[in-house]
Order: sequence, then C-alpha cells, then structure tokens
Amino acid sequence: MSANTHAPQTIDPSASLHAESLGLAKSHGRLAGRRIIVVGAGQRKTVDEAPPIGNGRAMSVLFAREGATVACIDAVKDAADATVDQIASEGGKAFADIVDVLDTAAIAPAVQRCTDRLGGLDGLALNVGISQGLPLQRMTVEAWDKDYAVNVRSHMLFAQRALEIMSPGGSIILMSSLASQRAGGRNPAYESSKAAQIALGRAIARAGEPKGIRCNVIAPGFMDTPMGRDASRRRSDRALTVPFGRQGTGWEVAYAALFLISNESSYVNAHTLFLDGGHLGGIQREA
Ligand SMILES: NC(=O)c1ccc[n+]([C@@H]2O[C@H](COP(=O)([O-])OP(=O)(O)OC[C@H]3O[C@@H](n4cnc5c(N)ncnc54)[C@H](O)[C@@H]3O)[C@@H](O)[C@H]2O)c1
Repeated sequence: MSANTHAPQTIDPSASLHAESLGLAKSHGRLAGRRIIVVGAGQRKTVDEAPPIGNGRAMSVLFAREGATVACIDAVKDAADATVDQIASEGGKAFADIVDVLDTAAIAPAVQRCTDRLGGLDGLALNVGISQGLPLQRMTVEAWDKDYAVNVRSHMLFAQRALEIMSPGGSIILMSSLASQRAGGRNPAYESSKAAQIALGRAIARAGEPKGIRCNVIAPGFMDTPMGRDASRRRSDRALTVPFGRQGTGWEVAYAALFLISNESSYVNAHTLFLDGGHLGGIQREA
C-alpha cells in the first residue's frame, strides 16, 4: 500500500462551478407573475475593476429572470438603478425605490408604495446588511447601534408591514451570515446582529403562519461578492480553508433565495439555510 492511499484528492475549484453558480443557466419561469420586493437590491462599489455580482443584485436579477416583477429598494440610487438596468436589458420587469432603512418612518410607506406599484405582494427578500468590522475593544455605541438598526431593526419593520398586506402563500427571506455562529471575524456587532436575525426569522414565521406566510433565513459563508472582497482586504487570512477551494458566488445565494421565495418551498418555514459549502459542518481545506 502506498503511503498516500488515504490522502484526500483535491479537485480543481472550477469543477464545483456550474452554469447556475455563474448566473448562466436558462430560466424556467419559477416565479411567473410573482410580485417581490428586494431590500438592498443594489451593490456596493469597491476598488475592484471587474467586481463580482453581490447577493442583492444577483437575487433581484434571478427573480426577474424567473418571471417576477421586482421592486428594487436601496439607499443608493445608482446602485438600485444599475440592478434595474440589468434586469431591463434582459427583458425583465423591475423598478427602483430609494429608501435609507435607517429612517424608520420611511419603511412602512415604502412597503405600501412598492406593493401598490407591483399590484400586490408575494415575496419580500431582506438582503440589506452592513458590517463596520470593529473588534470588541474598539466598539462604540454608535457603531453597535447602526449595525443593529440596519441588520435587525429594519428587517423587523419591513416584515411587520409586509405581513399586513402580503398575499396568503407569500414568503419572506432574511439574509443572515455564517458569522452568526462564529467569532472568527472579531466583529461582534455584525456577528450578534446576524444571530439575532435568525431568531427574528422564527418570530416572523410564527406571526405569518395564521396568514399562510412563511419566513426563512439564508446564512451565507465565505462569498466572493464585493462585500466579501472588502472583508478579505481587511483580513487577508479570511477564507483560506474554504470548501471546494473557492468562495461561493452571489448567484449561489440567489438560487437558494429563489427556492425559498417560490412555491417550491411551500412547507419550508422558520428554517435557516447555511450556504457555506459545508464549512459549518467542519469541512475545510488545509490552508
Ligand atoms: N461575503 C458576503 O457577501 C456575505 C456573507 C454572508 C452574509 N452576507 C450578507 O449579505 C448581505 C449583503 O450582500 P450584498 O452582496 O448584496 O452586499 P452589498 O454591500 O454589495 O450590497 C448591499 C446593498 O445594500 C445597500 N444598503 C446599505 N445600507 C443601506 C441602508 N441603510 N438603506 C438601504 N440600503 C442600504 C447598499 O447600498 C448596497 O447596494 C448582507 O446582509 C450581508 O450580511 C454577505
């Protein structure tokens, strides 16, 4: 028996990249006629010359490809407009609505306005989230409160209003993070707010059940998005051991969101889907 019989065979990272992972698969009308709001539907600008697609933009584009009309809410007009332009260039239906989710009074009217323009509401994807990256020693009250206001409070307010007007059979998605389970990022406001989102998702599911409305949470791991690249620039050792030898893509987050917001997941409720290549399950490559 040779010495390396039990050595793991490591495949080329590209072997786990499929047409879906790259946003190149054909559509199947899985959301035909659905009316969906995506919050945080743009994506941040980074120093990257050719940035990868972010989670919010990827899910907005994918929902539209699958037949939904998408209300793209974002604080940054250019970011929301770029998502709408991408959808329109593919023949899809979308419009932008500019809201800073830190403005609590703006949230309920925005849900109503978008619902009126959509002609009803079947889905709400709460992707908006920020991370200021401060370790505990340097945490401030302002930074703590801002992470919580965007990551948790705004999700609560959007869901509260949506539950009042969403059609039975509707679906709500919250975007949490693998950081909800790990202190690896030394980023306590982000990590704890992302953990709070998981409990909030269950509370929304509980409140929605009598109305036939579901709520689930997606918790991505290490993703190659503009947000992920910014995090890697802060911490270069961030994603050295990722499963399959690569980070996930925004499209892979979007396909999970597509399943959870569609009727295909009609009995999936109050669930958190970790979208991390198995990282939380202990699957890691040697650095
Ligand atoms: N590496 C990753 O990409 C990763 C991993 C795990 C979880 N997540 C989660 O995914 C979500 C974001 O992913 P993304 O790729 O779309 O990020 P992104 O930062 O590129 O885009 C987020 C969008 O939210 C908007 N936004 C920020 N603050 C806002 C505010 N106050 N009001 C309204 N809009 C605001 C931004 O303008 C931007 O267009 C977050 O919830 C994040 O926690 C990301």
